Amino acid sequence: MPMTIDNLLRDHKQMIEEALERLLSGGSTPLHLAMRSAVLSGGKRYRPLLMIAAGEYFHVPLDRILPFACGLELIHNYSLVHDDLPCMDDDDMRRGRPTVHRAYGEDIALLTGDALLSLAFEVMADASGGPEFLPQKVRTIQEISRFSGAKGMIGGQFLDIRYIPEEATEELLLELMAKKTGGLITAAVRVGGILGDAPEAGLRALTTYGENIGLAFQTRDDILDYRQDESKDRPFRPNAAHFFGLEQAKTRLNQYIDRAQIVLCDAGIQSESLVYHANCLRLPEAEKRDE
Ligand code: IPE
Ligand code: IPE
Ligand code: MG
Repeated sequence: MPMTIDNLLRDHKQMIEEALERLLSGGSTPLHLAMRSAVLSGGKRYRPLLMIAAGEYFHVPLDRILPFACGLELIHNYSLVHDDLPCMDDDDMRRGRPTVHRAYGEDIALLTGDALLSLAFEVMADASGGPEFLPQKVRTIQEISRFSGAKGMIGGQFLDIRYIPEEATEELLLELMAKKTGGLITAAVRVGGILGDAPEAGLRALTTYGENIGLAFQTRDDILDYRQDESKDRPFRPNAAHFFGLEQAKTRLNQYIDRAQIVLCDAGIQSESLVYHANCLRLPEAEKRDE
């Protein structure tokens, strides 16, 4: 039976889940329980799936990608635990469950994030592959560090907490989105390319694809959050639908997705999975009809 894209993604997702479960097994303190609850709670695993899709295109064996796919997903999950804290977005629910600080307390939530971040780098540093793999491994860890830190995701979170809607410019909002969400997403596709020794032009195309997918991802999240956010009794968070207006945000979302796909096409990268991951970000029909 031919492997459909849905089956392929289901298999990859299961492999990621099992690897994350293995990494988080052992230990029964509230810290360990909180780490498990933060990660093993139904995430879409979008970033590791993207990394695998990019890597597969460049013929990287799955077992070579897996430690980095898990590392990036652990970093994403740590960022969510901290993002939900009262001093950040102060959210009570995540993935349909109480947030980690709601379930375990703020102190444990802080440590949970710290521990997940450290575990991510331990897992990546432990990736096996022999001495000839070392330079590539170092480059991969450098990439992930750079896109996760103050120049990437954390830099975006900083712009997010300092955001003042009345003073915001388009440039600032796009920088914020590109860093806080685009950082890890761009890292995911680049790492797939780096592990596969992609040529420079291929890596450039993957980067532009990742940047556009990152903007699309956050624009979509903002559109879906928009009405909900408006009714919340708290300062208005940065939101592309609020800034551009709902209709323009929807147009921009489609443009980012189209651009991501065009850049792959122009570079001759014929990856059904990467096209699929971009298309996943299109709004559901019901949401489109709603307006
Ligand atoms: C949520 O990311 C945070 C944003 C960057 C918008 P995801 O939508 O990927 O969250 P999970 O991991 O699937 O829950
Ligand atoms: C979360 O962004 C981004 C990071 C954790 C880096 P948001 O605050 O917009 O996402 P949600 O709505 O909490 O998932
Ligand atoms: Mg948030």
